[in-house]
Amino acid sequence: MQPHAILLLLFFFPGNWAEPEGSYMLKLLHFATFQNSTSMLVGGVGLLGDMELGSLDISTGNIHYYQAWLHPALPKEDWDVIESSIKSYVRDFNRLVQMYAMMPYPFVFQTSVGCELQSNRTVRTFFNIAYEGQNFIRFCLDTGTWEQMQHNQLSATAEQLMANASTLNEVIQVLLNYTCVDVLRLFIRAGKADLERQGELTPAAPRLQPGEEPIERFQLFK
Ligand SMILES: *[C@@H]1O[C@H](CO)[C@@H](O)[C@H](O)[C@H]1NC(C)=O
Ligand SMILES: *[C@@H]1O[C@H](CO)[C@@H](O)[C@H](O)[C@H]1NC(C)=O
Ligand SMILES: *[C@@H]1O[C@H](CO)[C@@H](O)[C@H](O)[C@H]1NC(C)=O
Ligand SMILES: *[C@@H]1O[C@H](CO)[C@@H](O)[C@H](O)[C@H]1NC(C)=O
Repeated sequence: MQPHAILLLLFFFPGNWAEPEGSYMLKLLHFATFQNSTSMLVGGVGLLGDMELGSLDISTGNIHYYQAWLHPALPKEDWDVIESSIKSYVRDFNRLVQMYAMMPYPFVFQTSVGCELQSNRTVRTFFNIAYEGQNFIRFCLDTGTWEQMQHNQLSATAEQLMANASTLNEVIQVLLNYTCVDVLRLFIRAGKADLERQGELTPAAPRLQPGEEPIERFQLFK
């Protein structure tokens, strides 16, 4: 992903990037900037805690992976499903926005979807969609429906549209409640194993100069 796309994401998702001890979060962020009725800029990033796992390339639409342990963590068929789901989500999202959005160009939408394994072993999931940096609709796991987060035309239209997508909503319920957490657990295990391997192979970390802060690159896997 190009640096400016990452900056855009950081700008629109300023939330808490460092997760609390013992809590693990898997999160996919997506943004789409609509310049006019035919032109848009789409990008995304996948995160485990604050570690970047991969990104959706803003210019080619391809997915890039950044951690060597990531791909072997799941069978190839699973990656095929994940990649094609991400791509069709992005495609359908763009199509729906271009069909139903009535606001003046340019504008930006973002999606934030994922799950968190909390330190008390409960799971929290989220699927929020934002317009110009403000969440306007979210998926409610228990009911399998979407609920408005703002009282405006956009939220109402989005809720109505999604109310009819009952099959899709059932799929999302399963993806959030089961698949996401299963994948998160596999990633945690694969990431930890990789870190242990590195620990065996690499000599002790270089000593810090006075005043230098240690960089906790693999904070998640302590
Ligand atoms: C849409 O925006 C793109 C990029 O800014 C521009 O190249 C293109 O000419 C625009 N098209 C229309 C129909 O305005
Ligand atoms: C688990 O922890 C989360 C966040 O700390 C909290 O919101 C939730 O209520 C807790 N759940 C249980 C069952 O203790
Ligand atoms: C989510 O999964 C838990 C078990 O992990 C289950 O008890 C709960 O009923 C599920 N909720 C939905 C809405 O599927
Ligand atoms: C949703 O379904 C209802 C009843 O089948 C229909 O009246 C309504 O127009 C549909 N809404 C959309 C946005 O497709």
